[in-house]
Amino acid sequence: MPVLSIFQNRRAYRALDSKPIDEEVLTRLVEAAITAPSANNSQPWRFITATDPAVLAEVKNTLTPGNYWAQKAPAITAVVTNNDWSLVIGDRVFAPFEAGMAAMAYQAQAVSEGLHIHPIAGFNADAVKEALKIPASEMLLTLLIIGYPGDDSELREHHLKSERSPRVRLPLDHVYAKDRWNDRLLPQKP
Ligand SMILES: Cc1cc2nc3c(=O)[nH]c(=O)nc-3n(C[C@H](O)[C@H](O)[C@H](O)COP(=O)(O)O)c2cc1C
Repeated sequence: MPVLSIFQNRRAYRALDSKPIDEEVLTRLVEAAITAPSANNSQPWRFITATDPAVLAEVKNTLTPGNYWAQKAPAITAVVTNNDWSLVIGDRVFAPFEAGMAAMAYQAQAVSEGLHIHPIAGFNADAVKEALKIPASEMLLTLLIIGYPGDDSELREHHLKSERSPRVRLPLDHVYAKDRWNDRLLPQKP
């Protein structure tokens, strides 16, 4: 699949199947992630994937109610970084940016494997760290909820609608300019 199609096919889908995902597939996602660039090649990303039913259940217990749909996921990956692991220049701390690039490569590979993959912020980070034995000093950025496409009949109405609607994005000229900054790039006032 051409790379642009992979990115265009990625959506934060919620209709998941609980069918397990092979270890080799999960490992390929990490192999893709670690190709990401990082300043000084510091590689400030770590991935902890829960598939063990007991560990998965502990992680799922921490999800916010709006993330009910993630209860079906056969795998959940925690993306971890630490600002101390990266180059810092003034107020530019690169670790979360670099971990984000790695997470995007991870997601792109997941799409090419026929998986749905959905990042979430709605969970209790301290409880997830506890469940996955991630030291308190590390930054748990996001959970990636992973599963094969599943039945959408259990999704709430607004989630079903978003699942079936076109992607919502700012027009290109609100995020992209040639040669000079312009005021269209400023966030639009509601
Ligand atoms: C850091 C981050 C946190 C997110 N948290 C949640 C979440 O807790 N629950 C949820 O349903 N979606 C969550 N999303 C998914 C976004 O809502 C989704 O990516 C956005 O609406 C754009 O839709 P698209 O990814 O299908 O293009 C999150 C996405 C990111 C990147």
